[in-house]
Amino acid sequence: MGSKIKFLILFLIICFSTVVAIWGCTELKRSRPILPLKEYERMIAGRLDAEYVGTDNCLSACHEHDDIRASFEASTMGVQLKRESGLPLVDCESCHGPGSLAIKGITKELVEENLKKGIKTKCNYKTLIDINNLPPPAQSLICLKCHTGNATFNLHEWNAGIHAINDVSCFDCHQVHRSPDLKVRPIETAEMCFKCHEDLKSYYRLRSHHPVLEGKMFCTDCHDPHGTTVEYLLRKPSIKETCTQCHGEKEGPFIYEHADLTDDCLSCHNSHGSPNNNLLIMREPFLCLQCHEGHRINTPTGETFSSGVKEFFYRRCTDCHSQIHGTDLPSPTGKGRFIR
Ligand code: HEC
Ligand code: HEC
Ligand code: HEC
Ligand code: HEC
Ligand code: HEC
Ligand code: HEC
Ligand code: HEC
Ligand code: HEC
Ligand code: HEC
Repeated sequence: MGSKIKFLILFLIICFSTVVAIWGCTELKRSRPILPLKEYERMIAGRLDAEYVGTDNCLSACHEHDDIRASFEASTMGVQLKRESGLPLVDCESCHGPGSLAIKGITKELVEENLKKGIKTKCNYKTLIDINNLPPPAQSLICLKCHTGNATFNLHEWNAGIHAINDVSCFDCHQVHRSPDLKVRPIETAEMCFKCHEDLKSYYRLRSHHPVLEGKMFCTDCHDPHGTTVEYLLRKPSIKETCTQCHGEKEGPFIYEHADLTDDCLSCHNSHGSPNNNLLIMREPFLCLQCHEGHRINTPTGETFSSGVKEFFYRRCTDCHSQIHGTDLPSPTGKGRFIR
């Protein structure tokens, strides 16, 4: 009898969990995307009742956009029109949305007729995607439908990047119709970035700075504007690796290391610019005196200084501790004091 009740209880539990599971699944199915799908499609595709007609039909009656067309067709995206590459076809409608409504009723004859009257025929561009006024994430989606993380590798972390999160869109940096040349030259990047990060420009005018304004290195040597999993959009996995890609001699490992300080070069250096020599965050000896006491030393000759007393060395510590980033050679007393 006891076992019958146990069996019944077990049976009820199974029934109950099945019901809960099914209910849970339907609930899951019902969970909604953040935007109503229709709204979202409308944002991206433009008018849903419009058809795609192709660049030739779009522009057959129109000479207004000849320049845009010419430079676009000469660009890396435009040459895809020839379809030889097997890459996705890119034409005006890929970004501006289906165009049939925009050109409805416009014929070559009408255009010429109007021209004689001195009127410019405009297409009904209000039926196209209002590309400039989309919310930034939707602007980027226009590009990302082709430039997925797999197709354009450095866009892999786009969505996690601080730029995407802060509503910076592809359009803010890339101007598709600027010229046939879509490549971004490293030398152009500083101006591109200063558009929004103007405050940093002042660092590059300080006495010690990385030669970015001089065109010898670039914001993109250290940062990937498309987003990375590392903080500050760094390309390399850490600050140290960011720096030692160019300053390899500071990388170590050394037999005598400066504790773990050199794991973060920014304990002592600024990355962009500084009023102090060598991009230091603080002048010597104050830099060192944050963590150490000044000291007097007994040199082998018992050397004294101009004032006649053995002084504390509140001066440039690295005059003697010249291997401050680490060394393999011990000091005369066999310790690691970075003096050679
Ligand atoms: C890869 C996406 C893309 C493609 C392809 C594209 N455009 Fe654009 N177009 C844009 C973006 C983004 C803007 C708005 C920002 C700007 O003006 O650069 C724009 C703006 C325009 C403008 C308004 C320019 C202005 O000065 O206000 C016209 C006209 C235009 N495009 C025509 C065309 C024509 C014609 C084609 C095909 C030959 C084409 N576009 C293909 C993305 C694209
Ligand atoms: C319909 C597909 C498609 C869309 C939409 C699209 N692209 Fe492209 N894009 C391509 C293809 C294909 C290439 C050429 C192959 C390549 O370099 O990946 C290309 C090339 C580029 C290049 C040049 C790469 C190089 O090495 O020269 C840039 C920059 C670019 N696209 C930016 C954009 C931006 C910004 C947008 C959104 C306004 C956009 N693309 C929208 C398909 C697309
Ligand atoms: C903050 C500025 C910025 C934003 C935003 C941005 N890019 Fe870029 N993009 C660049 C720079 C700079 C380069 C040059 C190559 C490099 O150093 O990564 C580049 C390169 C590219 C390239 C390769 C072509 C080349 O010149 O090597 C493609 C394709 C591209 N970007 C597409 C996109 C797309 C798509 C988006 C939006 C999802 C986007 N970018 C957003 C700045 C930006
Ligand atoms: C030598 C490598 C390097 C170069 C070149 C570089 N950065 Fe940085 N940047 C860093 C590092 C490291 C950090 C993080 C620590 C810090 O704030 O200094 C950083 C931080 C930043 C920050 C966020 C913190 C802040 O101070 O606002 C911005 C924005 C930035 N960089 C933009 C730029 C721009 C724009 C350029 C080009 C003009 C540039 N960086 C050139 C290494 C570099
Ligand atoms: C359209 C404006 C815009 C442009 C152009 C732009 N940024 Fe930014 N950037 C932002 C915004 C917004 C943030 C968010 C944080 C903030 O408010 O500074 C940001 C943040 C950053 C950060 C800080 C990341 C962090 O973790 O604190 C770095 C680094 C950075 N950008 C580098 C660049 C570089 C390099 C370029 C040029 C290739 C560039 N940005 C171009 C708007 C822009
Ligand atoms: C892309 C290469 C590159 C990267 C990455 C780089 N540097 Fe530099 N660094 C340079 C160049 C180039 C100079 C200028 C050398 C010269 O003028 O002789 C320089 C100079 C310096 C100087 C001396 C400045 C002076 O006023 O003499 C210091 C200190 C420095 N870098 C520290 C760093 C730190 C810290 C990092 C990491 C945040 C870093 N560097 C990343 C290329 C780089
Ligand atoms: C404990 C403070 C401290 C740390 C941490 C530190 N530095 Fe330095 N660095 C200095 C001082 C002080 C100088 C100037 C005197 C000298 O050259 O010895 C200097 C000078 C430099 C110079 C320019 C002179 C030269 O020797 O080429 C570069 C480049 C440099 N450091 C790179 C780095 C890098 C890269 C890291 C991180 C791996 C780093 N520093 C970490 C204190 C430090
Ligand atoms: C952020 C703190 C910090 C700064 C700044 C700093 N140090 Fe150090 N330093 C340390 C630490 C921690 C040790 C390891 C102490 C130990 O092992 O007993 C160390 C070790 C040393 C040693 C070896 C001491 C020993 O007992 O073997 C010398 C020499 C030294 N530092 C000199 C300097 C000089 C010169 C500067 C300025 C250019 C400087 N330090 C800047 C924290 C700092
Ligand atoms: C005139 C050369 C000289 C100057 C300048 C100098 N030091 Fe030293 N320092 C030495 C010598 C030599 C030793 C002992 C080396 C040994 O043990 O073999 C030493 C040892 C040290 C030690 C480890 C011994 C201890 O006292 O614990 C530290 C830490 C140190 N110095 C920090 C500094 C700081 C910080 C400054 C700048 C305020 C500085 N030194 C300036 C030559 C100098």
